[in-house]
Amino acid sequence: MKIGETFDRSRSTRAHWVVCGMAFATLGVTASCRGRQSAIEPAGRGAEEIADLFWWMTGGAVVIWVGVVALTVYAIRARPVAHGGHWNAMLIIGGGALLPTLVLAALLIYGLSMLPPLLASAPEGSLKINVVGEQWWWRVRYEPPNGEPVDLANEIRLPVGEPVQFELASPDVIHSFWIPSLGGKMDMIPGRRTRIALEPTRTGRFRGACAEYCGTAHALMAFDVVVMEKAEFERWLEAQRQSAAEPAGPLATLGRERFFANGCSACHAIRGTEAKGVVGPNLTHVGSRLTLGAGIVPNDRGGFVRWIEKTDHAKPGVHMPHFGMLPRAELDALAAYLESLQ
Ligand code: CUA
Repeated sequence: MKIGETFDRSRSTRAHWVVCGMAFATLGVTASCRGRQSAIEPAGRGAEEIADLFWWMTGGAVVIWVGVVALTVYAIRARPVAHGGHWNAMLIIGGGALLPTLVLAALLIYGLSMLPPLLASAPEGSLKINVVGEQWWWRVRYEPPNGEPVDLANEIRLPVGEPVQFELASPDVIHSFWIPSLGGKMDMIPGRRTRIALEPTRTGRFRGACAEYCGTAHALMAFDVVVMEKAEFERWLEAQRQSAAEPAGPLATLGRERFFANGCSACHAIRGTEAKGVVGPNLTHVGSRLTLGAGIVPNDRGGFVRWIEKTDHAKPGVHMPHFGMLPRAELDALAAYLESLQ
């Protein structure tokens, strides 16, 4: 059997597999790139620029890939012909050195030209938000240009169309603060203060994540991001500034009593009460947040019970101890109280 015959017979099968593989890869890539945590479905100025760079680089890669495949097919099928030394030198110098240098230099210049606007600070008088990466959650403090700071955790709400200055820090390990839909990522480094300005361009709910391996629960260190209209945002911030509401109903009242009896206030603060702990997240309005445990547990009665009863199951490596020894009725009461903190 001649080699050429084998090639011909298997060629259509192979081409079929290649086309199928590419189709599945394309479907998989596009399906996984959409949604609340997508850098190529931008909802912020920085993310728009980064998405542009991504598409230019992807376009460049596709052109190079098609060129290489075309040359490979040509090399397989072409009748061997002796080329002159001049032609060989042109091919090696042009295709092997000149072309990659030009393409990579162009992409480098394009990418570097993006850095100054991406790293620029928000204008003076912009809303400032301090975020501290903890093990493994996010301590958040709003510092509005006019008004008292507001402490919360694991959730960030932003006004649409306004630049916001983030000041980032960490007390112990390195984290990376990243809201892919809004912009680039920035490391949070112990002993240093890093900054990033973000400007959301459309309203919606997005997801932020830690983008630097920081320990056991790194993959369970997320946060919710909600971009709102300016007036709605102002109302939300005003509500967050208020002290906690009095518990309504006997179950929530019992829950508050058990909260203090079990020593929860040693680690958590609830504005307007005796709870002033600073080790764990501020719980003043924890019931109004979208999720619990830094983006991993639904915020409802069952979610609170699950979290308090088995913190270490929900988040292995968590510093908060579990309270599985408490009777179910007491867990329900605690959950009712925390849920009432709207
Ligand atoms: Cu924090 Cu990874």
